[in-house]
Amino acid sequence: MQMSPIVLRQPTPILQDLPTRRSLHVAIISDGNGRWATSRGLPRSAGHRAGAQTARRIISAAPGLGIRTLTLFALSSANWKRPPAEVTAILRLLHEYLLTETSNCVAEGVRLSIIGRRDRMPATLRDAIADSEAATANGTRLHLRMAVDYSAREAIFHAACRFYKVTKLSPDSFSDVLSEVLRGGSTDVDLLIRTGGEQRLSDFLLWECAFAEFVFTSQRWPDFTVDDLQAALREFDNRERTRGALPDAIAG
Ligand code: IPE
Ligand code: MG
Repeated sequence: MQMSPIVLRQPTPILQDLPTRRSLHVAIISDGNGRWATSRGLPRSAGHRAGAQTARRIISAAPGLGIRTLTLFALSSANWKRPPAEVTAILRLLHEYLLTETSNCVAEGVRLSIIGRRDRMPATLRDAIADSEAATANGTRLHLRMAVDYSAREAIFHAACRFYKVTKLSPDSFSDVLSEVLRGGSTDVDLLIRTGGEQRLSDFLLWECAFAEFVFTSQRWPDFTVDDLQAALREFDNRERTRGALPDAIAG
């Protein structure tokens, strides 16, 4: 399959009134691929392919929207309960993405990390991941993290198992251990978006979403556009993030 290369876009005029200082971590549960395909009489794998194209568009637009870290949920560890052919199709799309996009990521300053287990993947995919991560390691414009065979609970459990070796016990040092387990950082999420109409976290970034804002949309992931991402960011801008303190209006 031919894939269009990533072309990172400059901010469009409409974005200029968005705060430019920000460097947000946006995480997306990209749900609804299967329903998108089924409603068109297509196999579910066609929905995942369409979803991969949406991911490309969102990744291209992200830096211009003030997003510094973007985490996409490509495959949950729970998805192994699906028919093997569907899981294989998703892993194959990831492999294609790595082969076709790594050089563009390097050119555009995108650092790519895969977070999640690797031991259940084909060795060729593991190698492609290692190659892409090494090639893009110096990217600073966008940290693109793809969660693949990922379970937040499992990652936290593994970090907890290692944590006893750490001498300075603190939430920050736990985050560092979690970051090691994930091999792709564990920074706090500012905004979590879930497409597809469900309103749940599905074992995604449980630790990192402690103070995240949530935006849920009924759109299926293949239909999600850059305009929709901007709308979610505007909604985020209108939220008052107190992190447990009093709202400004009351605190004075
Ligand atoms: C989300 O789409 C993408 C992945 C889980 C990889 P789904 O495959 O869950 O789509 P629906 O929810 O069945 O429509
Ligand atoms: Mg789903």
